[in-house]
Amino acid sequence: MISQDTIDNHAKLIAFQIFTAIEQKKQNNEHLVLGLATGSTPIPLYQELIRLHQEANLSFENVYTFNLDEYCGLSENHSESYHYFMHKHLFDHIDIPTKNIFIPSSKVEPVFLKDYCVGYEKHIQELGGIDIQILGIGRNGHIGFNEPGSSGVSITRKIELHHITKRDAASAFGGFDFVPTHAITMGMKTILSAKQIYLMAFGENKKQAIKQAILGDITDELPASFLQHHNNVSYCVDFNINTK
Ligand code: GLP
Repeated sequence: MISQDTIDNHAKLIAFQIFTAIEQKKQNNEHLVLGLATGSTPIPLYQELIRLHQEANLSFENVYTFNLDEYCGLSENHSESYHYFMHKHLFDHIDIPTKNIFIPSSKVEPVFLKDYCVGYEKHIQELGGIDIQILGIGRNGHIGFNEPGSSGVSITRKIELHHITKRDAASAFGGFDFVPTHAITMGMKTILSAKQIYLMAFGENKKQAIKQAILGDITDELPASFLQHHNNVSYCVDFNINTK
């Protein structure tokens, strides 16, 4: 059973870490780079960041954000696009400058795709790399849209969505056949370059993937297992991974 208290506590702790990091950077006249995820999992974290903005004067003026991924082909106003999601659940409620927000485009022409993806990587690097990366996880162990088969040295690219991912998204799109077939995702290498990572996973249906990611072999069949190579990952879960 999902424990809402546990989820809220994780959200509060991560939000407080982000708050502290933003304030520290501010004092040094520096900016913070956040890597952001979509899905239902990080919503309580975004709610807590909004609360801190409204009630504790947390300003995001010195923050840059890079989202992990976006579906190909959807308009940015589509209710299932990650552009729409991020504005609805976070950006519309805080004072982050629009120019500081980066989300992969859903509408890159094939001929510009390679340059576009290299440019996304370059932007991250030019801003000093991702300081704090927020992650969820798919039931198939994907991170962002790094589907099974993604290499540990992959960078931002277009990828075909896995059938489990499409099945999980089917109801939101009104059926399996309406789920976009491709997405642009940051790569595993991009994600592993972040200085600090919080992976959030709640509910029994995520337990198997998390268990394998932490305790299993490092394999491209379960891209989240590559996080074992990173020395600063916090796994924020609401179940005991040592039980069946
Ligand atoms: C999508 C996103 C992932 C996210 C996953 C899980 O596939 N691309 O970044 O982690 O969904 O979503 P949820 O948190 O709704 O379970």
